[in-house]
Amino acid sequence: MPVRALWREGERLALIDQRLLPGRLKVLRLSRAADVAMAIRNMTVRGAPAIGVAAAYGMAIASKEKRYTVARAARLLGSTRPTAVDLFVGIERVRKAWAQGEDTFPAADRYRDEIVGECRQIGEAGAKLFKSHSKVLTHCNAGALATVEWGTALAPLRVAHDRGAELFVWVDETRPLLQGARLTAWELGRERIPYAVIVDNAAGHFMATGEVDSVIVGADRIARNGDFANKIGTYEKAVVAKENGIPFYVAAPWSTFDSRRPNGEAIPVEERRPEEVLSYAAKVTAPKNGRARNPAFDVTPNRFVTGFVTPDGVVTPRRLAKTFSARGGN
Ligand code: MRU
Repeated sequence: MPVRALWREGERLALIDQRLLPGRLKVLRLSRAADVAMAIRNMTVRGAPAIGVAAAYGMAIASKEKRYTVARAARLLGSTRPTAVDLFVGIERVRKAWAQGEDTFPAADRYRDEIVGECRQIGEAGAKLFKSHSKVLTHCNAGALATVEWGTALAPLRVAHDRGAELFVWVDETRPLLQGARLTAWELGRERIPYAVIVDNAAGHFMATGEVDSVIVGADRIARNGDFANKIGTYEKAVVAKENGIPFYVAAPWSTFDSRRPNGEAIPVEERRPEEVLSYAAKVTAPKNGRARNPAFDVTPNRFVTGFVTPDGVVTPRRLAKTFSARGGN
């Protein structure tokens, strides 16, 4: 059964509690916008496209609660996580429908369908990048859990694998919240795609010893010049890939492209609680009262990107500006 991160049940949002995976597959059913906002903030649901769709449903749910104006609901959901631009795109889609007196749930459904369709197209567009035998490295989780269905970085791998390519995936564990070890490994296992989880610090070793043919990751926000934000640690992987002559791809739907940010310096980077770093699997590992910094994302300059895998095909950073102006952008 293909994974789905979330779905609508009448006027409720059902979603997999991603904090509990892979140990437990638990579905939460939310009928209040405040609970949807909390689920995004505490990463019950995470991944840029998925939080955009969750926020779209959050707006639809808010429109049926008496306590919200359109603006108040948009503020509540928009204050949850700052980096993924998809969040704001999802909110805006339903905000417009609500403000114009249209039915809000169909607007959220349309946004979900658009994201799922684009992820499927990313799978088609990116599959040809992976030859019949390929060892691919990925960081964080950019699979169905992060996008509703299909994934971004994982979609081309799924399509290539379905068509008979013999793939092997290096999965960075992705400290501090282990999205790679917990979520990507779980998704690849369900798809029967061979993989090995590695500690984040091992990626350079495998690239330098010739065991990685290409790298593919997702993104949380892509600026007009092709600088992009993704899970902390992505920047290092991109630099080491370039040093070793390994192609580095970034897969994303159009909702992740932000035409209002000229470059990476303009991308807001979320900083999360230090406790996430000071502990491992809920066990405190640092000295009592130890200090930590916990940026959840980093920004990779465009010069490290070989290509963006978009729903409309693979685009080089150099051609990205043209693509932005042709589309109008978010
Ligand atoms: O903090 P998270 O787990 O929401 O971060 C997710 C990522 O960084 C993903 O790589 C990104 O959202 C792309 S998901 C298709």
